Amino acid sequence: METEISFTRYLSAKKTVDDRALNQHVWQVMSNQLPTPVRILEVGAGIGTMVERFGEHGLLDNADYTAIDNQDENSREAGKRLRKVNGRFPLTLETINLFDFVRREQERQAWDLLIAHAFLDLMDIPATLPRLFSLLKPGGLFYFTLNFDGATILQPTIDPELDALIERLYHRMMDTRLTDGKPSGDSRSGRHLFQHLRQAGGEILAAGSSDWVVFAAGNDYPADEAYFLHFIIHTMQQALTGHPALNAKQFVEWIATRQAQIKRGELIYIAHQIDFLGRIPD
Ligand SMILES: C[S@@+](CC[C@H](N)C(=O)[O-])C[C@H]1O[C@@H](n2cnc3c(N)ncnc32)[C@H](O)[C@@H]1O
Repeated sequence: METEISFTRYLSAKKTVDDRALNQHVWQVMSNQLPTPVRILEVGAGIGTMVERFGEHGLLDNADYTAIDNQDENSREAGKRLRKVNGRFPLTLETINLFDFVRREQERQAWDLLIAHAFLDLMDIPATLPRLFSLLKPGGLFYFTLNFDGATILQPTIDPELDALIERLYHRMMDTRLTDGKPSGDSRSGRHLFQHLRQAGGEILAAGSSDWVVFAAGNDYPADEAYFLHFIIHTMQQALTGHPALNAKQFVEWIATRQAQIKRGELIYIAHQIDFLGRIPD
């Protein structure tokens, strides 16, 4: 499948997948706990789909929302997408690295709710949580969602042994990833967060699974979800091409078969993830 690779289109295509995946219990507890007025900070906000989602659920009527991301292309796309809601509540979009933002803002402890959606599993979590918590007001809430947790399921099976090997190597790549020379990523972030959150002083108020489940009803995937799948397979291809434990020709064929399954509406993709809502001490 020759489709151009665009991260902003991937984030847009991911929205309907995320809408189904977000754990409804955790969401409900979060919306019941929100103070009014509420000052919200979202880190790694991408193109602003969580801002839209909060707006669609009526959670921004008395809110002030700051969304940061370190990629200018994402913040610019967020600016375009959110033009229609901008003005209804104070919205700040900023391109800045989270750690520079923390250095600048931590003294103010300005936020009631901190959101990190499909973000923490890219970080060195034990090193990042104390810095994130330093941004919250005493007693502030954190809503950390779609934390990947160790299962990438692709159906139909192509070859049980090869499928299992690819899944294992893909997860190992996440576990050994370095960003700026520092560890960044954990393929079992979800389960490990129970401990990490407590160690950083957070109290967990609700947790639950938020698995991505993507399939075609009939031959067609909903919305732009065929593109979402295409991007996921491309990411696996990028991560594992040239891996010494894989036969290069076999892997090329495996990727081509997965892409063909998407074209025919056959590929089913499930990723296990966990959502958390919690509070830092007063
Ligand atoms: C998997 S994407 C999720 C984006 C968005 N939360 C969503 O789910 O649509 C992770 C985002 O984090 C941003 N990001 C990664 N490292 C960052 C950092 N150190 N500071 C700020 N943003 C970062 C990336 O640019 C990307 O947009």
